[in-house]
Amino acid sequence: MTDIGKQVSQSVLYPKRFLEGRFKKTNKTIDSLKNGEGAIVEVGGKKVAAFKSEQGKMVTLSPVCKHLGCVVDWNGKEKTWDCPCHGSRYKAEGAVFRGPSKKNLDKVEI
Ligand code: FES
Repeated sequence: MTDIGKQVSQSVLYPKRFLEGRFKKTNKTIDSLKNGEGAIVEVGGKKVAAFKSEQGKMVTLSPVCKHLGCVVDWNGKEKTWDCPCHGSRYKAEGAVFRGPSKKNLDKVEI
């Protein structure tokens, strides 16, 4: 797909993906995460991007992408948070490493 074709596709799909992320059900709980695993979980009625490090340290982040607000997905193969809307990617601890986002995911206290 050409760059223009990719941009058109992302623009058309953005509203759909934005809403899907808001209403997608979570099937994991924060207590069920194994070391090295991440997932979108609900804590106190709010979605949280939770990652449990290989050493067992829990990292909790806002799942809202800092580009235009879609909800990120956990990529278990690469251990990253990937945004389905325009392709931003974040390390498991929330640091952005591929744009268009230029900011890290916000840390949240639970
Ligand atoms: S909303 Fe655009 S990359 Fe996430």
